[in-house]
Amino acid sequence: MLTCKLQAQRMAARRRAPGLSARARRPAAVARAALLDEGKVLVAGATGGTGKAVVDALAARGVSVRALARDTTKAASMGLAGVGKTTEIVRGDVFQFGSLPPALDGCSSLVVCTGARDPTDPLGPFNVDYQGTLNLLAAARQSGSVRHVVLVSSIGADDLLNPLNLFWGVLFWKKRAEEEVQRSGLPYTIVRPGGLKTELRQGESVGSIVMAAPGTYGVPPKKSGSILRSQVAEVCVAALAEPFAQNKVVEVIAERDAPAKTMTELFSGVNWY
Ligand SMILES: NC(=O)c1ccc[n+]([C@@H]2O[C@H](COP(=O)([O-])OP(=O)(O)OC[C@H]3O[C@@H](n4cnc5c(N)ncnc54)[C@H](OP(=O)(O)O)[C@@H]3O)[C@@H](O)[C@H]2O)c1
Repeated sequence: MLTCKLQAQRMAARRRAPGLSARARRPAAVARAALLDEGKVLVAGATGGTGKAVVDALAARGVSVRALARDTTKAASMGLAGVGKTTEIVRGDVFQFGSLPPALDGCSSLVVCTGARDPTDPLGPFNVDYQGTLNLLAAARQSGSVRHVVLVSSIGADDLLNPLNLFWGVLFWKKRAEEEVQRSGLPYTIVRPGGLKTELRQGESVGSIVMAAPGTYGVPPKKSGSILRSQVAEVCVAALAEPFAQNKVVEVIAERDAPAKTMTELFSGVNWY
């Protein structure tokens, strides 16, 4: 039901948007919305903050979800299997390729929210953020059914000198993973969030999502910013059905005084590929 409502909002926003006629846009819009209506979505990193928010957002729309977890007991204890009638937990480790084809079997979309967790492991970003994403992409291509990949990366991914690279080149490896997504041949959306928050601090209010071209945010003199994981999840889910999201890299933060925009307005406002 919610998917239909979203689709109606998208169609209305598209009718207001300049450029292509509504008739020219409609087939793609319907085809992409069908990705959410009919398909199953594999969420990698489902036991993480953003991954869990993506599972919740998809389940709230009645979309079938497969939550990839290396520890299924942990996933179950987080209530992942109980999120919506159509959510199932599947065991998998992105560093073990053999665990991924069964997880992706029959999925129409893949949302990658994995990230290296152990800051003392020098190989973490290479293994998880890069090699792990490569394994997911290979399994997605082999599946023959995956029609869209969303990768959660990070602002600053282009900046080799970003201090975050002191953590075993984490942004460097995220950028290499982005490039593999782009050359995979699979339709994609790369979402680069600012600093992630699960909750607002006391007295803080939710800002509106601001979406910008890659390279907009980072270390000074560039602006920086933060965003709720639940807002990143909304962006990831919208990317699966939004025609303007296809094959784009977008940076997202939230700003209190920014105007509230629809996902169509946000994605159509970024024209960098
Ligand atoms: N923190 C920030 O401010 C920030 C800013 C911008 C971008 N990002 C990026 O945004 C993404 C989401 O961040 P987050 O903080 O929400 O994530 P998170 O809570 O750290 O979760 C990371 C997820 O990746 C999973 N994972 C790690 N290694 C894995 C492996 N080998 N196989 C399968 N799954 C594995 C973890 O599983 P386990 O539960 O089993 O450990 C967990 O589900 C990450 O890529 C992160 O780098 C973060």
